Amino acid sequence: MSDNGAMSALAPTLKKAPSALALRPMRASDLDAVVLLEQQVYPHPWTRGNFADALAAGYHAQCVHQDTELCGYVVAMAGVEEAHLLNITVARALQGQGLGRVLWQHLCAWAPQVGAQCMWLEVRRSNVAAQAIYKHWGFETVGERKNYYPAGRGQREDAVVMGLTL
Ligand SMILES: CC(C)(COP(=O)(O)OP(=O)(O)OC[C@H]1O[C@@H](n2cnc3c(N)ncnc32)[C@H](O)[C@@H]1OP(=O)(O)O)[C@@H](O)C(=O)NCCC(=O)NCCS
Repeated sequence: MSDNGAMSALAPTLKKAPSALALRPMRASDLDAVVLLEQQVYPHPWTRGNFADALAAGYHAQCVHQDTELCGYVVAMAGVEEAHLLNITVARALQGQGLGRVLWQHLCAWAPQVGAQCMWLEVRRSNVAAQAIYKHWGFETVGERKNYYPAGRGQREDAVVMGLTL
């Protein structure tokens, strides 16, 4: 326990209030940093090709930086009267400091602009931390997708489908 306390005292913190950090569209030139951050956060990360495809498809993708350092990003897709949250990620060392909220508030402003009346997402059943945050933001569990995600060693993991009326 004391080790954890020592680590948290040394953990990187944001220099500014999260709301003071600007979001801007993700560009192809961001992908090296995006893929690196993605690999640091997820055991089964999106590939560079996944991000490149998202940009090529015109999905809504935004990055948040502190100075020149990438801190997080969000990728979402507009559909017919709905939006699909595909990826929301904050650098591991900066999680729990309000950056997710910055990304979420941005999505809440963007979604109505593209005519979305609801938003939905999939999350790994084991990712209870993210599910708690999504519930806090107002999402409810609306279903599941069996064996949706790769889980290593040839195994698969279910997705929990969550939805929110905007
Ligand atoms: C999910 C993620 C993007 C959230 O970003 P974050 O910077 O850690 O989140 P924040 O510090 O802004 O906290 C988000 C909100 O959740 C709330 N929250 C945090 N933990 C919570 C919990 N266990 N229960 C309920 N609410 C919780 C916070 O109070 C905050 O509330 P607010 O928006 O009203 O201020 C980030 O934690 C992350 O990248 N996780 C790993 C990747 C991941 O799992 N992504 C989702 C894949 S589906």
